[in-house]
Amino acid sequence: MTPDAPLRGRTALVTGASRGLGRAIAEALASAGATVALVARDRDRLEVAAAAIRERGGRAEIFLADVSDEAAVMALGASFAERLGDRLDILVNNAGINLRKPLVDFTLPEWRSVLDSNLTSVFLMCRQFVPRMTGRGYGRILNLTSMMSHISLPGRTAYSSSKTALLGLNRALALELASEGITVVGISPGVCDTEINAPLMQNPELREQFRARIPVGRFGQPSEIAALAVHLCREESGFITGTDIVIDGGWTAQ
Ligand SMILES: NC(=O)c1ccc[n+]([C@@H]2O[C@H](COP(=O)([O-])OP(=O)(O)OC[C@H]3O[C@@H](n4cnc5c(N)ncnc54)[C@H](OP(=O)(O)O)[C@@H]3O)[C@@H](O)[C@H]2O)c1
Repeated sequence: MTPDAPLRGRTALVTGASRGLGRAIAEALASAGATVALVARDRDRLEVAAAAIRERGGRAEIFLADVSDEAAVMALGASFAERLGDRLDILVNNAGINLRKPLVDFTLPEWRSVLDSNLTSVFLMCRQFVPRMTGRGYGRILNLTSMMSHISLPGRTAYSSSKTALLGLNRALALELASEGITVVGISPGVCDTEINAPLMQNPELREQFRARIPVGRFGQPSEIAALAVHLCREESGFITGTDIVIDGGWTAQ
């Protein structure tokens, strides 16, 4: 735990916490003092992530759920209440997938799976958990958007559509919750070396092409995204809402 533990006494829930950015965010929130609910579908990886948090003195509980599934999110709501109580302070909607191919090659189920995983999941999670965040004058909802919410590339129609739509959800929900002291902020990472980017990272030529397009000359680190998430959860970040923060090594400045 960090010496000042700014999130001591807070309860946080992070979706997609079994690996990648979600795991890093969960670890950072726990280090800052929060009790963290780690949500994903892969039990083994969730257990490894939770064990790592506990080894460092943090508090973590794991929950198995497909956040694109309405019944699963309702069941998650019930098991969360049983194990961690009625209150939630910080909700990080991080779970997401990417499917890269030309629009004309998408089947409708493939298209829907991207929209359901990246956008409808956020609706379902917010509908389930926002009622547990109101009435206390503090709350943080962080939704993982993307550099692809602001620019795009060929083969990203479904992904960009889902992540750009999230900008609208964030703005409208921020307005709905502003008087409650609950902020809603998008975090738009640039390219990080995580499993979602395996098709790029495992192809040395493509990997180098992407790296060369990033002005700072390297990929983003999950710990850098996590540090931003912790900052946005601090009391003094309560004036940051309805907006999106790009953390991309300068890619979108070009
Ligand atoms: N890495 C980047 O460069 C980058 C850039 C911009 C935005 N982002 C966004 O950042 C977020 C995290 O990405 P990442 O790089 O950490 O990806 P990742 O390594 O592929 O991890 C994705 C996480 O989401 C979970 N997940 C996916 N679908 C789920 C579902 N239906 N229900 C529950 N959990 C689900 C996965 O866990 P299980 O498989 O165990 O369920 C996993 O924990 C995503 O929203 C992504 O779009 C990433």
